[in-house]
Amino acid sequence: MENREIGLEFSIKSGAPGKQRSACIVVGVFEKRKLSAPALEIDRASDGYLSKILRGGDLDGKAGATLLLHKAPNILADRILLVGLGRERDFHEKAYREAIATAVKTLRDTGSTEAVITLTELPVKKRDVMWNVEQAVRYAHKALYRFDRMKSKPEPRRPLKHLTFSVAGRGELKAGETGLRRGLAIAHGMGLAKDLGNLPSNICTPEYLAEQARTLANSYGFQCDILDQAACEKLGMGSFLSVGKGSDKPPRFIVLKHEGGKKGDKPVVLVGKAITFDAGGISLKPAAEMDEMNYDMSGGGAVIGAFRAIGELELKLNVIGLVPSCENMPDAKANKPGDIVTSMSGQTIEILNTDAEGRLILCDALTYAERFEPDAVIDLATLTGACVIALGHHPSALYSNNDGLAREIEHAADDAWDRVWRMPLWEDYQEQLKSSLADMANIGGRPGGSITAACFLWRFAKKYHWAHLDIAGTAYKGGRDKASTGRPLPLLVHFLLNREVK
Ligand code: BES
Ligand code: MN
Ligand code: ZN
Repeated sequence: MENREIGLEFSIKSGAPGKQRSACIVVGVFEKRKLSAPALEIDRASDGYLSKILRGGDLDGKAGATLLLHKAPNILADRILLVGLGRERDFHEKAYREAIATAVKTLRDTGSTEAVITLTELPVKKRDVMWNVEQAVRYAHKALYRFDRMKSKPEPRRPLKHLTFSVAGRGELKAGETGLRRGLAIAHGMGLAKDLGNLPSNICTPEYLAEQARTLANSYGFQCDILDQAACEKLGMGSFLSVGKGSDKPPRFIVLKHEGGKKGDKPVVLVGKAITFDAGGISLKPAAEMDEMNYDMSGGGAVIGAFRAIGELELKLNVIGLVPSCENMPDAKANKPGDIVTSMSGQTIEILNTDAEGRLILCDALTYAERFEPDAVIDLATLTGACVIALGHHPSALYSNNDGLAREIEHAADDAWDRVWRMPLWEDYQEQLKSSLADMANIGGRPGGSITAACFLWRFAKKYHWAHLDIAGTAYKGGRDKASTGRPLPLLVHFLLNREVK
């Protein structure tokens, strides 16, 4: 499997922190020097050892601060790691996740092999222990994730082997275990999505993605169909196939099927854009930051990663994954501005800019999705630079032709803390896509670029409830520290989990 695990095990425990036998116990301290409940318990058991140290001024509880203590009286753990939590009334989702990340990174850097983390016991507004544990597992994974496959000498693995998350009482163990199971599945799926995203395009080709999907299908019992050029031609995917023409890497249309629900239950279809490299084609992109366009397969990577989580969770739901994949390169055979192609739906498209290729591959996937009579279709795509201008890097843009589905996705995004922001999908924008020669143009001009891209896709999603996520700003981080984020996989998995418990 592509995702090399981080070699860390987790467990859930309840019980008095002072009585935990461990190499290290992690407890939180709020600003100013206010001990969290587990810290207070340790303080009592050790005759005020922690308060004495705090009075000395070594740690006042600022977020991000840490202090490692050795051998406190009457405490079974060898060491105590104090983690600053910031002000208690500001202790929301973000502060909680940062505290977990600080704890795990400190444990990693101090060479610990195992630890008990009590931060999961802390109340986070509007959240419960299941949420706390899921987030803790995900953020521990995130803190330890490294992509060093392309280095000639990978760094040696750190010795951290086991983390125990504590919950306040026995009554919370079950919820903690569920959070752990969900957190692990999501983290493993994200690990795969990130690996696929981070791989360079000379390795991660459409064929490579197809092989990965096949391997995944074999280990979890999914059905997997890989459609090659000829199969796509037979289906009439003239728009999809036009994009890959300028590349020597053959296109692949990946189909994954998980039949976890009742026979005959309508499936959820996930569609992910997987341009393994987007040079722009004949409408060539400028050189600056073009290297980041290996991340243009992130939508497809998230779908494949989500299937890993679906398999691990054995979701009781029917789910189909569609990943159209090819490369967008300039070449004698490539699409040219002004070319007109016929999509699988029969609608014709005038390609005014070959760099607006994502919608050209997605539209045929959306038409292909009709054959599954889906209950809902969600597509994910690093579709437009305009989306990044509109929303920056925090939320993914959400578009939908159905308010109920949009609310469901907003809900899942909040549960997963993998946020979205709904954008207008209005008929008014459609006229920007007018073409005098074909049924539509593939670009709508500069105003509302992310919206007109969504409006283009909407024309191919008339037969079912559909949502589109523009993840250009959220799927990866650019610049010198460029890295895939694995988003919006957490939101997808929560969306599916919420449907399962219906
Ligand atoms: N893959 C890009 C969008 C993108 C840009 C993702 C920056 C992440 C960061 C997409 O294929 C593209 O090139 N879109 C064009 C559309 C335009 C020609 C209408 C864009 O956004 O510039
Ligand atoms: Mn492009
Ligand atoms: Zn692209």
